[in-house]
Amino acid sequence: MKIPDLSTTYLGLQLKNPVIVGSSGLTDSVEKIISIEAMGAGAVVLKSLFEEEIIMEMEETIHTMTNRNFVFPETMDYMETIVKEDILLNYLQLITEAKKAVGIPVIASINCVSSQKWTYFAREIEKAGADALELNLFFLPSDSLRGEKEVLDSTLEIISKVKGSVKIPIALKISAYQSNLIRYAQFIDQAGVEGMVLFNRSWLPDIDISHLVISSGFVLSSPSDLGNTLRWVSMLSGRVNCDIAASTGIHDGAGLIKQILAGARACQIVSSLYINDLSQIGKMTDELYQWMVEHEFRSIESFRGRLSQSNSGNPAAWERVQFMKHFRNFI
Ligand SMILES: Cc1cc2nc3c(=O)[nH]c(=O)nc-3n(C[C@H](O)[C@H](O)[C@H](O)COP(=O)(O)O)c2cc1C
Repeated sequence: MKIPDLSTTYLGLQLKNPVIVGSSGLTDSVEKIISIEAMGAGAVVLKSLFEEEIIMEMEETIHTMTNRNFVFPETMDYMETIVKEDILLNYLQLITEAKKAVGIPVIASINCVSSQKWTYFAREIEKAGADALELNLFFLPSDSLRGEKEVLDSTLEIISKVKGSVKIPIALKISAYQSNLIRYAQFIDQAGVEGMVLFNRSWLPDIDISHLVISSGFVLSSPSDLGNTLRWVSMLSGRVNCDIAASTGIHDGAGLIKQILAGARACQIVSSLYINDLSQIGKMTDELYQWMVEHEFRSIESFRGRLSQSNSGNPAAWERVQFMKHFRNFI
């Protein structure tokens, strides 16, 4: 038996294994990225650069200045530029320094509100040396005046503009809250993205019943969140040309193996690293290695997608949603 090869490709990038540390506070400094590489990850996605955060910071600065009667319009414009450029420059510096410090691929991530910023940030990020760019397009489709078509059209427009502005590979990180995800994903795929990340995780609201205010719900995922990602990875595998990265609910080596069997080329991990620590990366890749030895798989490609919807021999199982008597385990 030859030694199993854990390497994979994602967005045309060579990864020594399929574990990517996903966009989060775990990836917001060069020191953390160096540790992530040392702990064995295949790649890293930087914390997103949020245009909204830049706007908020700008508003705060302007508010402070207004309170100090510091309100000349020229000063405001100047401050606006300074705040904007400062946050962007810090992010670009993170990319450049991370690229110098580690050998694993560094994928940047952006989330914008205005359409020009997607392309502006993308161009600057490419210049700074990122290997690829993830578009964090997560928003909650809750506007009753914007139907499925409008949501899709604006997504396709952003992809087209970004693709027209940069040469680095682009991945779209989507949310599970879309009508007919297969159709939505196929349109995105046809728009020419190199990858799709299923799924982003939203901040969840809760209610603090002691103080009667809105509070923050659970931030981290749990292993029980794996099933939804698994379902859609398996259903999209073979139905889109772009690479699929699984994200949400992967907490151990078994979760990693399941997603690859469903068709993922790579898996993004966040919550499990917050709950455990970075040593979880090595535990996951060790588990993958041992499992490949046991099952005599020499490469990731030799088993990737074996249980995707089209290859599983039981396509209906992936689409089953009702707890019918026939299938339920609970009496
Ligand atoms: C604390 C925290 C911060 C995150 N920040 C970002 C972010 O800046 N950009 C992004 O695209 N996703 C962000 N995410 C989502 C993760 O990248 C990931 O998609 C999600 O947590 C699901 O993976 P998991 O189940 O392994 O946690 C964040 C998640 C957490 C828990």
